[in-house]
Amino acid sequence: MSEPDEEFRAASELRSFGRRRGRKFSPRQQDLFDNLLPRLAIDVVDPLASIARDREIWLEIGFGGGEHLIWQAARHLDVTLLGCEPFEDGVVKVLSAIEERKLGNIRLRVDDVRPLLRGLPKSSIARAFVLFPDPWPKRKHVKRRLVSKPLLDLLARVMKPGAELRIATDIGDYARTMLIALMAHDDFAWTAARPGDWRVRSEDWPETRYEQKALREGRRGYFLRFRRL
Ligand SMILES: C[S@@+](CC[C@H](N)C(=O)[O-])C[C@H]1O[C@@H](n2cnc3c(N)ncnc32)[C@H](O)[C@@H]1O
Repeated sequence: MSEPDEEFRAASELRSFGRRRGRKFSPRQQDLFDNLLPRLAIDVVDPLASIARDREIWLEIGFGGGEHLIWQAARHLDVTLLGCEPFEDGVVKVLSAIEERKLGNIRLRVDDVRPLLRGLPKSSIARAFVLFPDPWPKRKHVKRRLVSKPLLDLLARVMKPGAELRIATDIGDYARTMLIALMAHDDFAWTAARPGDWRVRSEDWPETRYEQKALREGRRGYFLRFRRL
């Protein structure tokens, strides 16, 4: 897609995230941002340019502080993890963990995931995670929620047949609209085997920081798994 087309689409898409920057970076964080990030940054025009074609590629959308992204990358060194997050304070935490743990299998985009999804080749992603997307609870903001039919269409194109999509939320009403959108989508099937499946994470699905906060505040998580048909 040409750049003017991309700009037009970006302008017509509502922003689904909040702040890009909270605290001022320390000198070390600034150094990571200026020097390590460019080596790991994903180019939306050719996102897989620096990734070996024989590796599985997983995508985490909105990784926040990156706890789940780092956990998965450290346990699956044979997989390349693409992490996408506009909030720079979270990105710098991931950069710090990458450096400390010498992880070579993470690539990052510090912006909206949607242009990246349009740039990725068809059927290139073997697993995707959207964990606790911004809830936008006020009625006038509901249209900003990321998980809806347009995002599912973008995901369906880039996910391989058989690929897994994991989604979580702590907002019952969001879980309901996610489920309705996914059940109505021709390219996804819910993998729930038992009625209470959505209440539990599997062992290879660690808790995120946002989930911990939701639990402290008395909300529960809804954990949804779908298969790309
Ligand atoms: C509520 S936080 C949850 C963070 C993390 N997944 C967790 O569970 O702790 C949602 C995150 O999604 C990010 N986000 C929102 N819209 C996004 C988009 N269009 N592309 C990528 N990330 C997005 C936000 O910046 C925010 O950090």
